[in-house]
Amino acid sequence: MKSWTPFVLSFAAALLLWGAGPQTEPAYSGTYSQYAVASDQGLASRAGAELLAAGGNAADAAAATMLALGVVNPASSGLGGGGFALYYRAEDRSLTFLDFRERAPAAASRMMFADEGSSGSTKKGPLGSRSQLGGLASGVPGEPAGIEVLVERFGTKSLQEVVAPALELAESGFPVSEAVSAMGEGFAAQLAQDPVMSAWDLRPGASLRRPALAEVLRAFAREGARAIYHGPLAEELVSSVRAHGGIMTLQDLADYRVVSRKVLQGRYFGFLWATAPPPSAGGFTMLQSLAMLERTLPPSPSYGADFLHALAESWKGPFLDRERYFGDPDQVILPLQAMMSSTRLEQRVQRFSAEEAQPSAAYDVPISRTEPNLRAPDNAGTSHLCVVDAQGNVAAVTTTVNLPFGARYTAAGLVMNDEMDDFTSDPGKPNAFGLVGGARNLPGPRKRPVSTMSPTIVFQDGKPVLCIGASGGSRIVTATEQVALRILVLGEDAAQTIAAPRIHHQAQPAELRVEKIAPLDDALQKELRDRGHEIDPIHNVATVQLIYIDRSGGTKLHAASDPRKGGAPAGR
Ligand code: DON
Repeated sequence: MKSWTPFVLSFAAALLLWGAGPQTEPAYSGTYSQYAVASDQGLASRAGAELLAAGGNAADAAAATMLALGVVNPASSGLGGGGFALYYRAEDRSLTFLDFRERAPAAASRMMFADEGSSGSTKKGPLGSRSQLGGLASGVPGEPAGIEVLVERFGTKSLQEVVAPALELAESGFPVSEAVSAMGEGFAAQLAQDPVMSAWDLRPGASLRRPALAEVLRAFAREGARAIYHGPLAEELVSSVRAHGGIMTLQDLADYRVVSRKVLQGRYFGFLWATAPPPSAGGFTMLQSLAMLERTLPPSPSYGADFLHALAESWKGPFLDRERYFGDPDQVILPLQAMMSSTRLEQRVQRFSAEEAQPSAAYDVPISRTEPNLRAPDNAGTSHLCVVDAQGNVAAVTTTVNLPFGARYTAAGLVMNDEMDDFTSDPGKPNAFGLVGGARNLPGPRKRPVSTMSPTIVFQDGKPVLCIGASGGSRIVTATEQVALRILVLGEDAAQTIAAPRIHHQAQPAELRVEKIAPLDDALQKELRDRGHEIDPIHNVATVQLIYIDRSGGTKLHAASDPRKGGAPAGR
């Protein structure tokens, strides 16, 4: 479907470095003393760094990076999508979680996608079901409101200043990255149907301008999110969604609201982990897995088959919980406390064997007999970024249009998301990421679909030590957690670890994933097979961005952008 050759070549170079040790700093990482931005596109990292150089803070820089990402990587995120931001304000040591995820239109209904499995291809090409392609696939975008709230509440710069670098890129043009080019190739036939995207030359290095988006950016800089949720742009947006078969209305846009949610936190391995609450299931999965690992790993764990086996086993229970209990916390009762109880954890620990992989069902611990037990890609429609500024503020943002180029049409110049595919289409059926959804995650009016996005900040002795997160569907949380653990608990080098091979398990299917792009050592694979893991390679396990804050002898910011997507950090 797509050409991965350029990735494989640049990634091979990163892997070689990983084996060779840290003599030279690879292009995908950087060490800074004042501030840093790590995004999955070097130009977008530089846009954020520009704001920091001009005296802006982490909120200004995160907003500028998000806006620039929407310009230079239209496959992964943008104003037609949504996301989550976790913000640490150094001044009062407060943590805020902003949920600007897309919401279903008011006319959405439970079984609107039930007559059609959402995975697999149709005659319309790859990822072509109604929850993935076209107007019905789009949730009401949250990104414009999310960026505005982030800047208004925490920033120091005007929207005009925050928008400036993105506007410059959209107007003057920028070279198409290999990552965008590869995704463009995979979806060329669908992009050719859209009047805006069909005009794009997506060969690597070709210069791309985005005049239609520049118009929207200018209006956003002038009037804020209002310019997109009301007035002529809103009318244009709704009419395009509806022309593509959607049900979104002007009222849906006018009604969109960002929600501040209580950050999910837990203390494990001597660190405080702050991460995403529902509607993400990612943070819950991470904290439950860490709680189990504290009990199943030796006190000073090291990298090897024992570590990987324990990780894989720790994810099975939380992924089953996700299917059974997760939905929009504003619309379903989500018994988080009961789900995270120590008795439940103890039951799972009892079922763990260091020698033998257990079937996922062994870790299924229902919290109540009356709970309904209904059942409901390897791609890159998401972007994660981290910013640390000179005052010590930290922003971790994951932003998405879901599948590459979202629903693969534009509305008012914006690439529209297909976040509706994160709902359960039919209880028991998997979505594009093989995630089996439950009835609580069926679509409904103004409902937010369950996510895996897990922007995370880890603290040691009250100070932030790691900003981290990923893109990559269901693999977001497993990648984020294992890279964080290897840096913080196993003491590995941040830049080397981001390039190192990763694993993934999501309970269903009953397969331990390893990467084709970064193959796990043969001997380790054999040891894991000997313990009963069914190993099945996939292209990659997510794309991680991170900033590790090393305070031993003066502050050093180690920023890294996953070489799997070809990004680069920026800073000073
Ligand atoms: O919210 C979620 O979990 C998905 N919409 C994320 C999709 C994703 O990461 C796609 N690719 N990289």
